[in-house]
Amino acid sequence: MSITVTPVHPDFVAEISAIDLARPLQPGDRDAIEAAINRYAVVVFRGQTLTDDQQIAFARHFGPIHSSAQRARHQGIKHRLAAEEIADISNLDGDGKVMDQTARRRLDWLANRLWHTDASFRAVPGALSLLYAHIVPNQGGDTEFADMRAAYDALPETKKQEIDGLVAEHSIWHSRGQLDVRTYSAEERAALPPVPQPVVRTHPGSPRKALYVASHASHIIGMPVPDGRLLLLDLIEHATQPQFVHTHHWRKGDLVVWDNRCTMHRARPFDTTKVRDLRRVTTRDVASTVEQAA
Ligand code: OGA
Ligand code: MN
Repeated sequence: MSITVTPVHPDFVAEISAIDLARPLQPGDRDAIEAAINRYAVVVFRGQTLTDDQQIAFARHFGPIHSSAQRARHQGIKHRLAAEEIADISNLDGDGKVMDQTARRRLDWLANRLWHTDASFRAVPGALSLLYAHIVPNQGGDTEFADMRAAYDALPETKKQEIDGLVAEHSIWHSRGQLDVRTYSAEERAALPPVPQPVVRTHPGSPRKALYVASHASHIIGMPVPDGRLLLLDLIEHATQPQFVHTHHWRKGDLVVWDNRCTMHRARPFDTTKVRDLRRVTTRDVASTVEQAA
């Protein structure tokens, strides 16, 4: 039996059913899933039972894995999960206990609540993210997604011309700085230097244009910092209007896959004394976006 794709909106978010992702993936299903991701940007699989290795194996069908940057910016601490390929999106420490309110990794993790796209602070950024829910709180902790292709399409022609060819500087230290989280060592900072990313990119699988901005984007190269920052804030505000945003309410066993090349996302608040255990695998884009645009 082949998969069933049920769209939530005409061109954004679909639920995929009639597939057990723990089993070997058939080529026809792989291609149908990829086509759904290219069209809908966010796809949701419910009721899955996956080990970390099975999650990684499924992700590998869609591209090489981006090793998590968490280890680069949290050096010298105990990590809970063994696999380098997994980013720990939980609020648990290395021993599996809920992190203290002031734990450094918790404060860093809170930046997921700012609108962003994964790993845009790396020269070769993330392509697809696959986030799997092991434990979810009873209340709160939704994830919101913004459709950056629809947001681009809806810009006035004059704005499209104004931003054509602009390049923003992205840095993880900028998103953390917005929350006044600055407790990183010189080695950690040096491991993740700022990178350029075009403000508009063409999504290869559609191919449609998309806004590419995020909380990591600090300014526009070649423009006074305040002007560039205001422009970026305006674009993020535009792209996150309700008509472009979908909210995912997590259930245990959900695997949500999103395309970072044409979406932004953010976590929503919950009682962080309760456990929320989500784990993410991200695939690597093919090259730096500046090279892709050239
Ligand atoms: C992520 C992320 C949001 C959330 O995994 O990249 O931003 O709701 N997660 O946990
Ligand atoms: Mn993220």
